[in-house]
Amino acid sequence: MNLSAMIAACRERASKPLAQRVLAIAAMLVFALVLSPSSADAQNPNVRPPAGAVENAPPSPTITAPEKGGNYDIELWEKLRQGVEGSVSIPDKKSGVLVQSQGEAWRVLRQTDLPEWGGYALGGTLALLALFYLVRGRIRVEHGLAGRTITRFTDAERMGHWLMAVSFIILGLTGLNVLYGRDVLMPVLGKEAFASFSAGAKWLHNYVAFAFMAGLLLSFIMWVRHNFPNRHDAKWLLHAGGLFSKHDHPPAKKFNAGQKILFWLIMLGGVSISLSGISLMLPFEFHLFSKTFAMLNVFGFNLPTNLTSVEEMQYAATWHGIVALFLVCVIFGHIYIGTIGMEGAFDAMGSGEVDLNWAKEHHGLWVEEELGKDAIAPRGARVQPAE
Ligand code: HEM
Repeated sequence: MNLSAMIAACRERASKPLAQRVLAIAAMLVFALVLSPSSADAQNPNVRPPAGAVENAPPSPTITAPEKGGNYDIELWEKLRQGVEGSVSIPDKKSGVLVQSQGEAWRVLRQTDLPEWGGYALGGTLALLALFYLVRGRIRVEHGLAGRTITRFTDAERMGHWLMAVSFIILGLTGLNVLYGRDVLMPVLGKEAFASFSAGAKWLHNYVAFAFMAGLLLSFIMWVRHNFPNRHDAKWLLHAGGLFSKHDHPPAKKFNAGQKILFWLIMLGGVSISLSGISLMLPFEFHLFSKTFAMLNVFGFNLPTNLTSVEEMQYAATWHGIVALFLVCVIFGHIYIGTIGMEGAFDAMGSGEVDLNWAKEHHGLWVEEELGKDAIAPRGARVQPAE
């Protein structure tokens, strides 16, 4: 609904009795003043809906016209809240939408569905890991520790990993606070302390995001060449990585098929969450989803490509939340296997040195390659006695 439409509505009502007409005009003025985003916009005669503007959004059961005072024009209110986008000549293009009805569906998704399904996903993942631990126990080094170690990751590799990991954990915790803090922390901290905490957490979230992007980039540069599929991956996957059998050690190079899948999930998810995060940090600047949907439509999808800037933000916030919850579930599994799930694994990222028998059991082909290199050109002690 825009000003010219309102004027047309006034004309239409000119045939009504005088008192009713005055009240209808007063109601429209109230709507125009209260609902227009800026007074500059209200004075602008250039506000008009574009050709093909959507006018059939379903009415929301929760928004109703104010009943008190009697003479509000319900018909007009319903039209107003159908989310028509007009064009405005001021820089703030989103002002062309007076009432954004899709916001109602988004609010329900954001405040109810996403936290609920996210809770099932997070809780379900933890439950599955606990079950796996109960059934399989800690994966031990089958042949016992060799007492000699081999260098698994260099200082630079570990720095890239921990930059990405620590920043991801901070982002995960501060992000989950946005989704669950009101229900989980506010009752414990009280309203005021929770408000201050959340303001600090949001600030931290914005800045730590750049450390995550740097860690992601470093890890990508250092590890991408080890993460292309090879013929051993199919065998590794067919044996489920030997996770369910104590004596099964399918061969793997530096990274096995499971680690490669994790690598690509983190890289693709990390880029996607970074882009949607940047568009949330700089609101209304980018039209990521219209462009992405247009690309997907080439493959036969039928996704909307004329999203308003407000809808763009709603898609960005929703997608950011979904990818974040998914990655947190994936990382739960990764942290499990890197700590309590597998004997000897943490050393790889702790000191960078792993026991030779651990390395032979989990990355046999990589050990052969590394020892082969030393045989050709000795580079100090790559394989060394454990201290
Ligand atoms: C407390 C948290 C974490 C621990 C204890 C941990 C531990 C480990 C360990 C031990 C490895 C080496 C595995 C091997 O030698 O084969 C590793 C590798 C890796 N980590 Fe983490 N990590 C953590 C958090 C993260 C996070 C948050 C991310 C990404 C957001 C991440 C991404 C990776 C990637 C891509 C690799 C290489 C592929 C792989 O080994 O799975 N890690 N991590």
